[in-house]
Amino acid sequence: MKTKLFLTRRLPEPVMKKLSETFDLRYNEEDRVLSKEEIIENIKWCEILLCLLTDAIDKDVIAAKPNLKGIVNYAAGFNNIDLAEASKHGIPVTNTPDVLSETTADLAFTLICSIARRIVEADRFTRAGKFKGWEPELLLGRDIHHKTLGLIGAGKIGSEVAKRATGFEMKICYNNMSVNKELESATDAKFVELPHLLKQSDFISIHVPLTDKTHHMLGKKELALMKENAYLINTSRGAVIDEEALVNALKSNQIAGAALDVYESEPQIHPELINLSNVILLPHIGSASKATRVKMGMLAADNAVAISKGKIPPNIVNKEIYNRGDL
Ligand code: GLV
Ligand code: GLV
Repeated sequence: MKTKLFLTRRLPEPVMKKLSETFDLRYNEEDRVLSKEEIIENIKWCEILLCLLTDAIDKDVIAAKPNLKGIVNYAAGFNNIDLAEASKHGIPVTNTPDVLSETTADLAFTLICSIARRIVEADRFTRAGKFKGWEPELLLGRDIHHKTLGLIGAGKIGSEVAKRATGFEMKICYNNMSVNKELESATDAKFVELPHLLKQSDFISIHVPLTDKTHHMLGKKELALMKENAYLINTSRGAVIDEEALVNALKSNQIAGAALDVYESEPQIHPELINLSNVILLPHIGSASKATRVKMGMLAADNAVAISKGKIPPNIVNKEIYNRGDL
């Protein structure tokens, strides 16, 4: 008998094919995020839940099926899942790391270039019929090459951003939980303390997961350390930045600008961000390439298969559950 898997939203076609061949698959056929009640209703039926970062898998959801065989998240970040609660019930939780690192780094670097060279603004200007010919001081931006890039978080994604920055001959500094030797030998990146990074960088790009420790890691005090011609780029999770403090820093031109792909309370966006001209706002598309969204789905499927066979899944994030004698 095939394992019962519930998928909270349609994924790209090759992934749907694989899932429907491998599992007794049920999925949300409507193109929208399910309510908590709807997830609870469906979780009762399934053995494995395949969910998205837009699904809050909290205590109540887990309580509806405490003997679930696994929670497979279609994302690298898993802050949408109450991991402690899942672990308490011995439920393995998996994510989809690595396959999206380069794609997300591509977007972070695209944002660095776009905010510095005012690409979005320039496109709007041209479409509005305002281009009357070359001008000596039309839409002047900032250089990227030879500037200092500060990476907050230097895991897989941060390291890929550093590689891209090397091509622009940027100076690279990073702050991370620990020194990343591999990154330091692949690039000239130097480990620095966070205040130092904030004070010296022209571009600051965030690549940490959202945890209790990184929540509001950049608030009023930290933003005040940034140079007034520096830009902040966020492709990680919105709540790493105190959005209110960021709005204030942008409004008072305390920093030059921000390019954001993620927000504190998605899909809501701080209303004042919308009215600011020194920001670029994207709808959480860091990993959104055709190829990568398929790879993420195939990896999620691999994790679900391992769980269905009682094996430790390749991308387990709460491995400790397997070492407990009481389960
Ligand atoms: C996307 O934001 C992810 O974590 O995969
Ligand atoms: C010039 O390009 C600057 O960054 O100030």
